Amino acid sequence: MMRATELIRKKRDGGELSREDFAQLIGGLMRGEVADYQASALLMAIFLRGLNERETADLTEAMLRSGRVLDLSNIRLPKVDKHSTGGVGDKTSLIIAPIAAAGGLAVPMISGRGLGHTGGTLDKLDSIPGFNTRLGIDEFLRVLARTGAALIGQTDDLAPADRTLYALRDVTATVESIPLISASIMSKKLAEGIDALALDVKTGSGAFMKTREQSRALAERMASIGAAHHTRVQALVTDMSQPLGAAVGNALEVIECIETLKGRGPARLLEVSRELTAVMFLLGGIESSMGEAQRRFDRILASGNGLEKFAEIIEAQGGKARIVDDYSLLPAARHQEPFVSRQSGFIAGIEAQTVGFAAMALGAGRERLDSVIDPAVGIVFRKAVGDPIAAGEPICALFWNDGSKLESARALLEQAITIAPERAAPLPVILERIPNDVPGGIS
Ligand code: URA
Repeated sequence: MMRATELIRKKRDGGELSREDFAQLIGGLMRGEVADYQASALLMAIFLRGLNERETADLTEAMLRSGRVLDLSNIRLPKVDKHSTGGVGDKTSLIIAPIAAAGGLAVPMISGRGLGHTGGTLDKLDSIPGFNTRLGIDEFLRVLARTGAALIGQTDDLAPADRTLYALRDVTATVESIPLISASIMSKKLAEGIDALALDVKTGSGAFMKTREQSRALAERMASIGAAHHTRVQALVTDMSQPLGAAVGNALEVIECIETLKGRGPARLLEVSRELTAVMFLLGGIESSMGEAQRRFDRILASGNGLEKFAEIIEAQGGKARIVDDYSLLPAARHQEPFVSRQSGFIAGIEAQTVGFAAMALGAGRERLDSVIDPAVGIVFRKAVGDPIAAGEPICALFWNDGSKLESARALLEQAITIAPERAAPLPVILERIPNDVPGGIS
């Protein structure tokens, strides 16, 4: 397509691309009329020049239209999903999806795999024996209609342009662009055919976005894409300077989610899960104030209906639902050893990214997209930031199978954990809400 060169030039020189321009470029790319090298040049021009809100929404639409958009109109319930930009120990999906479904929403959750120091929902679900994260779309819709939630991986038919563009971004140093990230995430989420979306934009060392400013900008841009597509979106910016919860590693995180659904979850994990689920109830119109929405979450948790729903989802997707009562059915590491403190004092910091690398060293994460992970291994913290610690006391436990990486995991943990003589003021986990004026009075 000759016009591609013209459009690349326009963006290169700081011009604005129209809705039609994006439709032609993405359509052309998918039909093979725009070459990968042209798309790569365009991506770099976008990376350097940026996109305004309107352009980002139009790019998102073109990407969305590259594939199928699910039609959920036969499901009478409000269709609401949650997406997180990812972090270390971030396992809220396995708590939120069942509670939201038990609370009257339909949750069509299409998730990603973990890469680098961050974990992915699919890897956690894949650690459940029998659980099928690769359902075809028709089966996915059947499970959704029957249980109120279904959780699968990306399929080839939803937003295929994102896969093509992401593969090019990955090798052309154009991943870290707020408009490109926003369009990538939102094209996939809007393809689910949802009415509303709660976003968890992580911030801090363990997150994709390291600073509050970047995280806020990403949240704002995704919310503006939602508004342009008449989909209610609210984002929470949440802390990822320390792992979320105590467990990092796939099967270990599944156990922590089940424990949370049994009412025994760590405070910060529970707080983020509760707040995001409450936002979903509010956006879905099930409750009209944040207070009521939070109380709905609390009631479902206390009644055990969230746990029951999780077992039902596992069963519906072919997994062994008995894991909720019998953790020995999950993959278990052959060895376990404590990581003890050399000093006394208070835990001042557990730096998330380095903990993620330590878990990856044990085999819990992927260095490359095609790396094989070990679902059993990981780290479970016995102490949280702010807790007192005595010399010789365990801070965490390492669960391992391959001893050759143990030394590097230990060294990374040594680096990640800081101990101070005084207790530091606790850092809130929910930092911002964007936008702040969603009907229903989120304050
Ligand atoms: N996650 C996505 O889905 N897309 C990006 O571009 C970055 C993170």
